[in-house]
Amino acid sequence: MSEAQLKQVVFPVAGLGSRFLPVTKSIPKEMLPIIDKPLIQFAVEEAIQAGAEEIIFVTSHTKTAIEDYFSKNSELETRLRDSNKSELIQTIYPDYLKNIKFSFVRQNEPNGLGHAILQAKNLITEDFFGIVLADDLILSDVGCLKQLKDIHSKTNSSVLGVFSASDSELKNYGVIDATQENDILKLNSIIEKPSINEAPSNLAVFGRYILSKSIFNILEETKPGLNGEIQLTDAIRSSLSNDSVFAFEFQGRRFDCGSKEGYVSAIVDRASHLENFREIVKK
Ligand code: G1P
Repeated sequence: MSEAQLKQVVFPVAGLGSRFLPVTKSIPKEMLPIIDKPLIQFAVEEAIQAGAEEIIFVTSHTKTAIEDYFSKNSELETRLRDSNKSELIQTIYPDYLKNIKFSFVRQNEPNGLGHAILQAKNLITEDFFGIVLADDLILSDVGCLKQLKDIHSKTNSSVLGVFSASDSELKNYGVIDATQENDILKLNSIIEKPSINEAPSNLAVFGRYILSKSIFNILEETKPGLNGEIQLTDAIRSSLSNDSVFAFEFQGRRFDCGSKEGYVSAIVDRASHLENFREIVKK
């Protein structure tokens, strides 16, 4: 098995974050901190662990905080150095960011995940690219996107991360119909946010994808689906007539930080794994 490359990863970050108002009035939801580190940094680190060399943010005009966050801040670095706090420089601009290219493309109207991904079309030069939805935080020894990339190396096909959802959760996700092939699932179909009666299984797609760039031509032809939006799920289903798509149940702890419950759980989980906070969590 030759190791595949995953050089480009797309981060759709143009959402309004209305579930987290008022804080998201001026702070993108992806910048919400899990103690001291924003969600987007966990996600970018995960992409870099999978081999990403270019991070492409699909953003809106209100999200300049993300652009600022991943830029070098020479003034702050000088001030830290002058006040004998040089050790903090590594935290604000870690070495692993130095060779990463950050690109930004605007999504001018919110029109679904498929529409957001389509905005990155002209920047994708590789045959396959990753997608990370940063409000799904996955904590695991081997990063979740790297786990997907290992499956992609075996199959040379698109791969979706899935988890086993409860019946009541299915209406919030893309849900797959798949056949088990060894330790991998091969998709037969996928449906966006089904009712419990329509759901073909309990395997739901969360925020990690590796897709063939042929998805862009399909997205351009994809008609508005659920809620009148261009759904990535619909394009993936159309792609099945020509290409194989696989799914994989990842190993790790997943927190849906798009919900307040998931966000609080993520903070408690991280705190309980950090020495300074363990006692506080116990109390
Ligand atoms: C989107 C996708 C859905 C996927 C989900 C994962 O929905 O459309 O298929 O399961 O992300 O978080 P959204 O959460 O944007 O409504």
